[in-house]
Amino acid sequence: MAVPEERFPLLGRRADQAFLADSSDRPLTMRGVTDTDLPELLRVDREVFPEDPYPYFVLRQHIDVHGDRILVLDDGEYLHGYVLFVTTSDGYVCWVLSLAVSADQRGRGLGKRLMLEVLRQLRRERVHEVRLTVEPTNAAAITLYRTLGFGTDGGVHRDYLGPREDRIIMVLGLGSA
Ligand SMILES: CC(C)(COP(=O)(O)OP(=O)(O)OC[C@H]1O[C@@H](n2cnc3c(N)ncnc32)[C@H](O)[C@@H]1OP(=O)(O)O)[C@@H](O)C(=O)NCCC(=O)NCCS
Repeated sequence: MAVPEERFPLLGRRADQAFLADSSDRPLTMRGVTDTDLPELLRVDREVFPEDPYPYFVLRQHIDVHGDRILVLDDGEYLHGYVLFVTTSDGYVCWVLSLAVSADQRGRGLGKRLMLEVLRQLRRERVHEVRLTVEPTNAAAITLYRTLGFGTDGGVHRDYLGPREDRIIMVLGLGSA
């Protein structure tokens, strides 16, 4: 499903404009996912989450059902990251289900840019709260979310995503009336 590119303005620009060069100096673009991204989306997901990647059919159906909720980082040939976020049917809470940046692109602000764009869209849509789960040992992600204002909803949720899959739930209120 193609997403109108103007839905993703970035820092005052259109989101289909290049905003960063990758390691081979190709400009990276943040944009909505399209059907043709599926092979690259799978590759990036498997690279970033080798122990627990999405099966093909799950990403296929995420694109089918809410492809406008997936933003990708594209250098024109390869994807270097993505974020997947889905809002509950009452429009109250959005869950960020995945945030991924390729290992060779980390530490350059890309994860933060993806998240800032998600938050910008959700504020516009008057979503009240953003939630996500993170492994208790994932210091990079926890620090990133804290810099964006997320806090935890308490302690560690044991077996939250299955046996021995403990998670912290992080929450950010967006202050919508
Ligand atoms: C988490 C992840 C998305 C961060 O992406 P990134 O592009 O490297 O992050 P950024 O460069 O935007 O960093 C933003 C902030 O996050 C924090 N951060 C990022 N990497 C960090 C690290 N290794 N250690 C500590 N803090 C870190 C810093 O506060 C950083 O701000 P700063 O650079 O001004 O200090 C990336 O590491 C990743 O894909 N990890 C594997 C998948 C994953 O864990 N996803 C999240 C699941 S909940």
